[in-house]
Amino acid sequence: MRVIHTIAELRQHLSGFDAPAFVPTMGNLHAGHLALVRQAKPLGDVTVASIFVNRLQFLPHEDFDTYPRTLQADCDQLAAHGCDVVFAPSEQELYPEPQGFKVHPPASLADMLEGHYRPGFFTGVSTVVMKLFQIVFGQCKTGGHAVFGKKDYQQLMVIRQMARQFALPVTIHGGEIIRADDGLALSSRNSYLTPDERAEAVHLSRALKALAAGVLGGEHNLAALEQHAMEALSRRGWQVDYLTVRRRDDLHPPAPSGFLPGKLVALGAARLGRTRLIDNWEF
Ligand code: PAJ
Repeated sequence: MRVIHTIAELRQHLSGFDAPAFVPTMGNLHAGHLALVRQAKPLGDVTVASIFVNRLQFLPHEDFDTYPRTLQADCDQLAAHGCDVVFAPSEQELYPEPQGFKVHPPASLADMLEGHYRPGFFTGVSTVVMKLFQIVFGQCKTGGHAVFGKKDYQQLMVIRQMARQFALPVTIHGGEIIRADDGLALSSRNSYLTPDERAEAVHLSRALKALAAGVLGGEHNLAALEQHAMEALSRRGWQVDYLTVRRRDDLHPPAPSGFLPGKLVALGAARLGRTRLIDNWEF
């Protein structure tokens, strides 16, 4: 496995391949990331993972400085999972000058849910992913592939739409959420949890499943269901940003006639102590 730190060297190396399969990450890898690498492998003729903690997608009060940076352990895991190339640029390499040009996703998709609670987040994500795509796929001959986890459901949707509207030569694939045995979605941020918080953390996924069960059980008063779910989690000591049922295809609230099986997703974001967790449940 090659570990490459510069754009020039990556381009040089990838010029020998037709169709990269790419998994962008911010590192501190766990089984969720590695599942995406396994999914990517058969899609292209070279498997590339990037590791870059992207300052543009963090708000000033967020955890950019403390985000776990574990490059050597990440590379060991990627090598063991058959990744061919790791692209791990420095900040100076990826942003040698202030990134004045940015990709702004449409408000109808990016200003709600995560975008509401983390203003500018999806601009930061879209901008770095567009830049990484230019670097990884800039010279690919037959069109490449990129894999994103459903854990970040709205992010996957933003990237899919960006690739489509800019006619990028990349097919976007979604990877299923990988969970711990108790049901907690794996996340790099789980390492911030104290043992007590870690034991409590599973209740976010349980709340989403309960929300889904409520809808499937015939309750169509979504506002009441969501309110009840948020209150229940708050009583357990969480600070809830949202727990909500949306249409899978555009993340807008379903119309009363739109409660169709297989078309909905329950999404949630909530803080336990200092750690903000997100999760979702398709149903
Ligand atoms: P990061 O949080 O490192 O996640 C990298 C990829 O792993 C994302 O596509 C994310 O959805 C996926 N992922 C994380 N946890 C997962 C889980 N438990 N199961 C399945 N997939 C999971 O998302 C980012 O980085 C950044 O925003 C990035 C796209 C790299 C742009 O900076």
